Amino acid sequence: MKVVIIGAGNLGLSIAKGLLSSNSISSLYLTKRHINSLEGLKSDKKVTITSDNALAITNSDVIIFAVQPNHLAAVLRKNTQYITAKHTLISTITGFSIEKIEAIIGKENAVIRAMPNTAIAVGKSMTCICSNENTQLKLNTAIKIFDLLGKTLVIPERQMQAATVVCASGIAFWMRLIRATTQAAIQLGFDAKEAQELAMYTAEGAANLLITTGNHPEQEIDKVTTPKGCTIEGLNEMEHQGLSSSLIRGMVASFEKIEGIKKLS
Ligand SMILES: NC(=O)c1ccc[n+]([C@@H]2O[C@H](COP(=O)([O-])OP(=O)(O)OC[C@H]3O[C@@H](n4cnc5c(N)ncnc54)[C@H](OP(=O)(O)O)[C@@H]3O)[C@@H](O)[C@H]2O)c1
Repeated sequence: MKVVIIGAGNLGLSIAKGLLSSNSISSLYLTKRHINSLEGLKSDKKVTITSDNALAITNSDVIIFAVQPNHLAAVLRKNTQYITAKHTLISTITGFSIEKIEAIIGKENAVIRAMPNTAIAVGKSMTCICSNENTQLKLNTAIKIFDLLGKTLVIPERQMQAATVVCASGIAFWMRLIRATTQAAIQLGFDAKEAQELAMYTAEGAANLLITTGNHPEQEIDKVTTPKGCTIEGLNEMEHQGLSSSLIRGMVASFEKIEGIKKLS
């Protein structure tokens, strides 16, 4: 698989790191206008660093767009002539619809939108993808790529904004939860490094319990809440302080913000 990432910034580089460690690609072009920051990746034989998008597109089969939303239209306009039927087009751009992409490059190409998160750098992204109608084969290619980099779910395009909140912003929400539990562990007597380890691996264990067993979270909670015990005491106090409610409200606020941005653009 020959891949180009147009816009090797935060997300683009995370995807690049994940792809390189998955050993599934024969060549990887990374593009940006100012390439100095990518010097460190030059030593990898599979990687070519360039600011020449046309060259990179011509030499690749899969094009992953990871520029900022306000740059995508110009990048597409400038490079439409180099995009051919061989290409699988994947856009990771938040809020830039398939319809808008087709309005620039035409309706013939398969267009896939992907919403990964930055855990893609360690092969653990929850990625939602959707596509236009020309695509089953190329959609399968995209699923294959993102399955190498975590877990993939195909959804209708109308759910992409919600997926952005739950999965992409979700990384920040979970980081805060892990930070808060780290702070509590320090207050309870652990040093900072130990406290973060306890918080991270407990979070990982909880997620893996659900992934492996398929259980509902409440089933696992029931197993650790002894009647009149310390766990239920702590859990109920958290709920009195609005734990579930504040998480739900925060995510709904994020969604309303993203919907507002979409209407303005
Ligand atoms: N971060 C996330 O968690 C996340 C998750 C899902 C989706 N997204 C989407 O991913 C996109 C990128 O986000 P980001 O956080 O990675 O942004 P970013 O760090 O700003 O990266 C964008 C990169 O695009 C490059 N660029 C700009 N114009 C270009 C051009 N003409 N040709 C090639 N490269 C160009 C910029 O570098 P130069 O200025 O050097 O060109 C920059 O490094 C956004 O549209 C965002 O909506 C992000």
